[in-house]
Amino acid sequence: MKTYLVTGGAGFIGSNFVLYMLKKYSDITIVNVDLLTYAGNLENLKSVENNENYHFVQADIGDSKAIQAIFDQYDIDYVVNFAAESHVDRSIKDPEIFVKTNVLGTLNLLNIAKEKWLVGDDLYKEGKKYLQVSTDEVYGSLGETGYFTEKTPLDPSSPYSASKTSADLLVKAYWETYKMPINITRCSNNYGPYHFPEKLIPLIIHNCLHHKEIPVYGNGENVRDWLFVEDHCKAIDMVVNQGRLGEVYNVGGHNERTNIEIVKLIIAYLQEHADSGITEDLITFVKDRKGHDLRYAIDPTKITNELGWEPETKFEDGIVRTINWYLENQDWMNHVTSGAYKAYYSKMYGQK
Ligand code: NAD
Ligand code: TYD
Repeated sequence: MKTYLVTGGAGFIGSNFVLYMLKKYSDITIVNVDLLTYAGNLENLKSVENNENYHFVQADIGDSKAIQAIFDQYDIDYVVNFAAESHVDRSIKDPEIFVKTNVLGTLNLLNIAKEKWLVGDDLYKEGKKYLQVSTDEVYGSLGETGYFTEKTPLDPSSPYSASKTSADLLVKAYWETYKMPINITRCSNNYGPYHFPEKLIPLIIHNCLHHKEIPVYGNGENVRDWLFVEDHCKAIDMVVNQGRLGEVYNVGGHNERTNIEIVKLIIAYLQEHADSGITEDLITFVKDRKGHDLRYAIDPTKITNELGWEPETKFEDGIVRTINWYLENQDWMNHVTSGAYKAYYSKMYGQK
């Protein structure tokens, strides 16, 4: 019976992970700690909120008293740290909160987990692990060819990726210095249900359904390597349970697409299946993002060879599942874009 402390479990990937794990295992407990920033949404977790083995705590990962209290109350075996400020464009406007949450928040989690788990000089309680959920963006940008391996030098471009890199270096330092049991996963761009509509794929869907212009940065030829979120969850589960201590694992499914290709594909699908008035006329090329990384592409050989991980969902299927999810959950989209969910939170959690 393992107890997971999942941070940021009300965000896009975190809530998918909580749902995935509770569906897969009946003998685990999940304590979900999330500050519920604009990106956190408890509506995602309605189906599990009354489960006996699921507990939600609204707290900042940087709040040492709050995190300490959680470790005092529960015997935490695994920390899986998803909590982060995650949007590159926001980091360009306001880097400070990215350092506060992504760097100092991570440091706080490491310190408290280390203190609770350490039993002697460099000796930790059996079966404990801290997993840092990181990103391929720590490697910077690729040119037209090549792939990121775990040995690719860290070379972040944006304040977001610089903060994630800093966090990775702290996690690595806790392994090298204190022998703390850790893993780091670095995944490519995820897509799927519960993705906040500031990010490319849900933004395209949202804007199409509202006949709003779709802003394409620069010439739309930047390349991202897309992975269905459930495949990422599966990888994290494998690394927590089987990953070699101290190791980094890259996660990606060899699925490179240009942004403009994605935009056109979603428009074509929605035009055929939702509304014939959705056309490529919505595409609007806008000023490029500052420091825009040209291309990301992951080499997942290590996680495939060592742990047997392979992506299960082909992009052609995953993208249809995703678009259909948004079509079937337009209330979810309306709530997160209207702020109605904030009112729900203050009603539900304001007094606690
Ligand atoms: P998200 O923005 O959707 O969710 C982040 C969650 O963290 C939200 O629920 C938010 O409320 C919470 N949070 C923010 N600040 C917090 C704080 N100080 N204390 C506690 N909770 C806080 O992000 P996401 O897309 O789900 O990404 C999750 C993690 O995965 C991040 O660490 C991100 O860097 C990493 N990642 C994301 C992608 C991707 O494609 N989305 C790819 C690779 C790695
Ligand atoms: P995004 O979803 O923000 O993820 P990331 O920057 O972390 O990869 O953006 C994905 C790609 O889409 C990136 O190349 C920037 C581009 N993009 C646009 O062209 N228009 C948009 O409105 C957004 C949000 C992103």
